[in-house]
Amino acid sequence: MPIGFFDSGVGGLSVLREALKLMPNEDYIYFGDSKNAPYGTRDMKEVRDLTFDAVHFLFDKGAKAIVVACNTATSAAVSELRRTYKDVPIVGIEPAVKPAVKLGKKGKIVIMATPFTLKQEKFKSLMSKYERDAEIVPMPCAGLVEFIEKGDLGSQDVYNYLKDKFKDFNKGDIASVVLGCTHYPFIRETLSEVLGDEVSIIDGGEGTVNEVKRRLELADLLTDRKEKGKISFYNSCEREEILELSKKLIKY
Ligand code: DGL
Repeated sequence: MPIGFFDSGVGGLSVLREALKLMPNEDYIYFGDSKNAPYGTRDMKEVRDLTFDAVHFLFDKGAKAIVVACNTATSAAVSELRRTYKDVPIVGIEPAVKPAVKLGKKGKIVIMATPFTLKQEKFKSLMSKYERDAEIVPMPCAGLVEFIEKGDLGSQDVYNYLKDKFKDFNKGDIASVVLGCTHYPFIRETLSEVLGDEVSIIDGGEGTVNEVKRRLELADLLTDRKEKGKISFYNSCEREEILELSKKLIKY
């Protein structure tokens, strides 16, 4: 049985590519809801309902576990999903604040995420856990997901967008930047050009898939197959290019 991955679009592929490294023999279904992306500027009910629809779709396709590979959808729906589907491992993702704090570097920790994620209680309580140990600066990035959905990862426009976002920081101000949206790892190189090498860029993909593996092990759901598994891609958007882009992003 496959592991079901879901995101508002192509972003969750940054988590899936980590899963492929850690659990190459599993089968995967990836559903991107690009037709309805971005989620990050929608309201709670919309994101919650879209997330439930996507999870039903993955169950219909036989998913044995669900990875909500979207910070926005996780903050809107993961608790309710877990209450509703008690017997299925359901793993979400949240901004990797803890690893950033653990680095112990001097300077601010900037959390880039969608406006939705940063507004939720879930993020506020995450922040309150660490704000005594570090100066955390939330940075809502409306408009960034749209570039990535178009497959634009490094144009001058993306560079300018990022440059503008960080224009009020001085050199040496920032210790690290947390990528609190699963789309953002795909613009990591452009971000690094803007920030320079001294700033650490952290994403939560690897930590999330470690948790997926642990949960599957506990539920005795890991495959015992010795050969490489396969990925089935689905997307709510009818454009042919979106599936091509999906494969390109994870070099599949
Ligand atoms: N990839 C999603 C996340 O991790 C959100 C993108 C969107 O706004 O749709 O938050």
